[in-house]
Amino acid sequence: MGALSGKIRVPGDKSISHRSIMLGALAVGETKVTGLLEGEDVLSTAAAMRAMGATITRSDSGEWSIHGVGVGGLLQPQQALDMGNSGTSTRLLMGLVASHAITATFVGDASLSKRPMGRVIDPLSLMGAEFTPSPGGRLPLTMRGAFPAVPISYRLPVASAQVKSAVLLAGLNTPGITTVIEPIPTRDHSERMLKGFGAELEVEIEADGTRVIRLRGEAEFRPQTIVVPGDPSSAAFFVVAALIVPGSELIIENVGLNPTRAALFGVLRQMGGQIEELDRREVGGEPVADLRVRHSALKGIAVDPAVVPSMVDEFPVLFVAAALAEGRTVTTGLEELRVKESDRITVMRVALELAGARVTETEDGLIIDGTGGDPLAGTPEGAEVATHLDHRIAMSMAVAGLASRSGVAIDDTRPIATSFPVFESLLETASTAAA
Ligand code: S3P
Repeated sequence: MGALSGKIRVPGDKSISHRSIMLGALAVGETKVTGLLEGEDVLSTAAAMRAMGATITRSDSGEWSIHGVGVGGLLQPQQALDMGNSGTSTRLLMGLVASHAITATFVGDASLSKRPMGRVIDPLSLMGAEFTPSPGGRLPLTMRGAFPAVPISYRLPVASAQVKSAVLLAGLNTPGITTVIEPIPTRDHSERMLKGFGAELEVEIEADGTRVIRLRGEAEFRPQTIVVPGDPSSAAFFVVAALIVPGSELIIENVGLNPTRAALFGVLRQMGGQIEELDRREVGGEPVADLRVRHSALKGIAVDPAVVPSMVDEFPVLFVAAALAEGRTVTTGLEELRVKESDRITVMRVALELAGARVTETEDGLIIDGTGGDPLAGTPEGAEVATHLDHRIAMSMAVAGLASRSGVAIDDTRPIATSFPVFESLLETASTAAA
C-alpha cells in the first residue's frame, strides 16, 4: 500500500458518544445526536439504556433520537447488561445504577472480564451501593444500587476519567453535593456535558492544578441537540500513518482537540511531525480543527509522563511512530496501560518485536530504538501479531504494516469494530487517493 493522501473524516468521539446516550436517557423529551460513533462499544451503552427504560432510535439519515426517563427514573433491567468489550460503558453505567433502586448484573467479553472494577466499586460502595463481583473485583458482577444514595467527597486514587464520571453520574440522583477531587486532570467530557444538560456543576482549580468538581444532585435535565466531533483517538492512527509513509499528505477533517485528549499531536510535533491545524472552530462545545499531516523525518524523544492522561489511548500508535523514528524514544508512567483492553505495554512490545522493531519493556513503559525511517521488516512468514481482543493493538499494527517490507499479519481484526468500524475502508480510501 502506498502513500496516504486526500481528505478523510473519522467517526465521532467514543467518549462523547457514550455520554450523549447516557445523559440523553436521563432527560425528559427528545435529545438529538448527530455524528454519533456507531461502534460496538457505544451500541452496548445504547442497548443498556434501552433496557433501563430509554427510547433510542436512529433515522435513515444517521441522526439519533433519545427519549429519556428523567434523572432518577431508570428502570430495573430484566436481563444482564452485556457490556461487550467496553470498559467505559461498564464503569459509567455502574455509576448511574449506583443511586437507583435497581439490581443489575454486568457481563462482558474475555478482555473486559479481566479488567479491574474495584476502582469504581470502592467509591460507589461509599455512596451505599452493594456489589457481588467475580474474584479480583471483576465481571460478571451484580450490584444493588442505593436509594437514596449518600453524597461523598472522593479523591481519585488513579487518574481515570471513568472513575471520575462514575462518581459524578451516581451523584446526579443523590441528594446534596457530590465532590470529586482530581489531582491529575483527565478528559472532561462528562463535566462539559453535564453542565450542558443543566446540572449544577462547578470546577475549582487549586494552586497545584488539582481540580475539585462539585455536583448538586437531583438535577433536572433539559434535552439537548448534540453534534459529536471526530474522535482524536481514531484520527491518531491516520496521523501516524501519514507521518511514517513516504510521500503522504493527508487532511483529516473535524478532529476533536479537547486539550485533555490531544497531547499525542504535540508529542508527534516534538518528534518533528508536520501536523498543521486548519480552520480551528467549536463543534458541540468542543474545540475542533482539520489536521493536515505530511510525511516527516521523526526523531526519538523522552515523552513527558505528565502528558499521559491526555493521550492515554494513543500510546500503542505512538510506539509505532517511535519504531520508525531516528534514535531512542523513552516512555514512562504508563502503568495504566496494563489494565486497558489488553496489557498494552507487553502486547505492543511483543507485536513490534515480531514486526522487526527494537523494543525494551520496563515496568512502566517501553524504550524503542527506531529505524530512522527505514521500513520495518514486517512479520515473518506464517507469524501473526496477537491482538488480545484489543482494537487499538490491531489498528496500531495495521499502521506499522504500512511502513514495513513484508507487511504485518494480525490474528484478529474484528475488535476494530468496537471503536472504528470503518477503519479499513477509510485506510483504503486514503491510500487509493494517492495511487
Ligand atoms: C475513557 C477514559 C479512559 C480511556 C477510555 C475512555 C472515558 O479510561 O482509556 O478509552 O470515556 O472516560 P480511564 O478512565 O480508565 O483512563
